Amino acid sequence: MWEGERRNKVSRETDVHGGAERDRTVDLLSAIQALSQTELQPHGGGDDSTAPARPSTARRPLDRSDRIAAGGQPMEPRDSLTVTDNRTGKSYDIPVENGAIRAMDLRPLKTGPDDFGLMVYDPAFLNTAACKSRITFIDGEKGILRYRGYPIEDLAEHCEFLEVAYLLLYGELPSRAQYEKWVHDITFHTMLHESIKKFMDGFNSDAHPMGILVATVGALSTFYPEARNIHDLAVREQQIHRLVAKMPTIAAFAYRHSRGLPYAYPDNDLAYTGNFLGMMFKMTELKYAPNPTLARALDILFILHADHEQNCSTSAMRGIGSSHTDPFSAVAGAAAALYGPLHGGANEAVLRMLEEIGSKDRVPAFVKEVQQGHGEKRLMGFGHRVYKNYDPRARIIKKIADQVFEVTGRNRLLDIALELERIALQDDYFVKRKLYPNVDFYSGIIYQAMGFPTSMFTVLFAIARTCGWMAQWEELLLDPEQKIARPRQIYLGPEDRRFVPLGKR
Ligand code: CMC
Repeated sequence: MWEGERRNKVSRETDVHGGAERDRTVDLLSAIQALSQTELQPHGGGDDSTAPARPSTARRPLDRSDRIAAGGQPMEPRDSLTVTDNRTGKSYDIPVENGAIRAMDLRPLKTGPDDFGLMVYDPAFLNTAACKSRITFIDGEKGILRYRGYPIEDLAEHCEFLEVAYLLLYGELPSRAQYEKWVHDITFHTMLHESIKKFMDGFNSDAHPMGILVATVGALSTFYPEARNIHDLAVREQQIHRLVAKMPTIAAFAYRHSRGLPYAYPDNDLAYTGNFLGMMFKMTELKYAPNPTLARALDILFILHADHEQNCSTSAMRGIGSSHTDPFSAVAGAAAALYGPLHGGANEAVLRMLEEIGSKDRVPAFVKEVQQGHGEKRLMGFGHRVYKNYDPRARIIKKIADQVFEVTGRNRLLDIALELERIALQDDYFVKRKLYPNVDFYSGIIYQAMGFPTSMFTVLFAIARTCGWMAQWEELLLDPEQKIARPRQIYLGPEDRRFVPLGKR
């Protein structure tokens, strides 16, 4: 029902923002149609009532004689997987599509009528694709990252952050006119409701700014109740503008609150990162003039953090968004996931680690401790679930560090970081496990040199990642295959037990 409504709605919705949005609507519609006709072609039958109706040819148990006839002879290559269930002796032909099989195609593999059907056990989703996406591509073995097909290196060199945000959200780089309108729409929404300011006043002065950000972005949902109407393209569009625009303002207010400084309101004459630097660091001057090198460096850092396909916080965004909650609540959840030290909190942890090491000559001893800790103690800013090569973002950050240090003076922690990288990359423990510097290894050193306190590092990550979260949320909502996220479990707890009343235990 919702599916049909959604498609009709997409085609019926009026164009409130001009050509770019109309083009995108048409693009999205044709993409959905193309998907439903080709890629998403249902396959396989099956007797599970929760499975979508499919032709019954694929996944039929194969006759043993079929198998014997084929046995020993080289078979024609086919886009399918033949699985023999040794519990029953039956074989099944399972279609392979885009290098994957559908987990639901395993459900018909049963040992008997009472068997639920075969599931896939994949804690932490190491090998499970939960969506089809056209936003970000990563080849972790080769160290490649592309947004909508464009190499991250080109985007970082030639684009502004808001241009990349547009690309992620709309699928194409904007024309000059589209970009001007987009920048205007974002600039128009940078202010916060005064009651939000009062809400933020309620936090203790030592509250972590990331905690403030998570709570405040969630609270925005109560200010914009219309945001719940997620099936309306124009409403969604407006919340995207609000979120991309207001995150820097919330972030800067959180910082100023912790310092006991008066809030600095947005200056719409400044560009996205320049305005953010102003809201952070403006003191008594009438007009804040951001340093162009620092504003550009921050812009590049934001580009590098804008999206990273199905990471922990994006999966949280999609998981929460799949229940059709409003985007402010979903972003609060995604930001909460980002807060953790294994994800966006790592840049903060890197700085603490470098401080703990203290000097270059103590690096070898620290590396030894990490090795001997066997995973207990980690080299923060090293290793990645997907990259088994140098994180391309770390390479770009390393380059901009020099430009930043020319303005700010060299951060003494850089020498420790460089030595750490040098030693780790020669060390068997790290080489064998393919542990390379990730995006967080050098970003914190730059942020610190620019004057950001350590507690703001993850907040900076969250500002940039908001456009990626919104792009992924939009894609989720327009994907006819998506439903509320609801993983299965393997229950290993007690079987049916007899209840014993409190007095008899
Ligand atoms: N230092 C020392 N050993 C490590 C590290 C590290 N940073 N990362 C992984 N290992 C070891 C780990 O102990 C394990 O060894 P063994 O095979 O002997 O048990 C092996 O390498 C594989 O580790 P894993 O935990 O199975 O790898 P994962 O893919 O689950 O974890 C990670 C990825 C990013 C959580 C992990 O590398 C890590 O904790 N890194 C430090 C935190 C960090 O820098 N996080 C930022 C990630 S990039 C930004 C983002 O996406 O948020």
